[in-house]
Amino acid sequence: MKGLVFNLLETVVTGAHGEDTWDALLDAAQLDGAYTSLGSYPDEQISALVLAASQALKLSPNEVLRWFGREAMAVMVERYPTFFLAHQSTRPFVLSLNSIIHPEVRKIYPGADVPVFDFDDQPDGSLLMGYHSARKLCALAQGFVEGAGRHYGETVRFEHLCCMHNGDPTCQFRLGFTDVAQ
Ligand code: HEM
Repeated sequence: MKGLVFNLLETVVTGAHGEDTWDALLDAAQLDGAYTSLGSYPDEQISALVLAASQALKLSPNEVLRWFGREAMAVMVERYPTFFLAHQSTRPFVLSLNSIIHPEVRKIYPGADVPVFDFDDQPDGSLLMGYHSARKLCALAQGFVEGAGRHYGETVRFEHLCCMHNGDPTCQFRLGFTDVAQ
């Protein structure tokens, strides 16, 4: 996993709980915390930090990932405004993931191993979204989508229709978009 993700986690944890908490998570996970955004680090390190956070914050690991994803989006808006300015609502932003956002990310961060999504518009206006990644970080994907919704002032209804954690071959989400102003 790219150091950028570890740096985002540090920013989010420190912002919400202070530097001491981040240091305590590093200690619990037996890591030194020296991450450069372009570097690549073993996935086990992010898992160890999520586990340490789950014990410290009394949340399940998936709740930690979802919270992290939601909060990290606000940081990404500051650091990568172009991806967000290109759209006026959550749906087209999310639809640009495979075609623009993650391919651009791979140019900036060579070696980034990004997940693949598939999309299917439904007659009722909802969007089916398939998530494919051996990392099984569907809770992080959910947090990112919800964080993007918050950025665009929308409430995103997020249903996890099937999940690799339950033995399904892929994760499938149904997203419903509601404009807060309505
Ligand atoms: C709704 C929007 C987004 C979703 C759902 C999403 C989803 C994800 C997920 C779930 C991962 C974890 C890796 C995996 O599952 O295999 C990931 C990795 C990553 N994403 Fe996104 N992402 C979004 C937006 C963005 C944006 C705006 C950026 C801009 C910088 C970004 C950059 C990255 C990077 C750098 C990684 C790490 C890849 C690696 O370490 O190899 N993502 N993304």
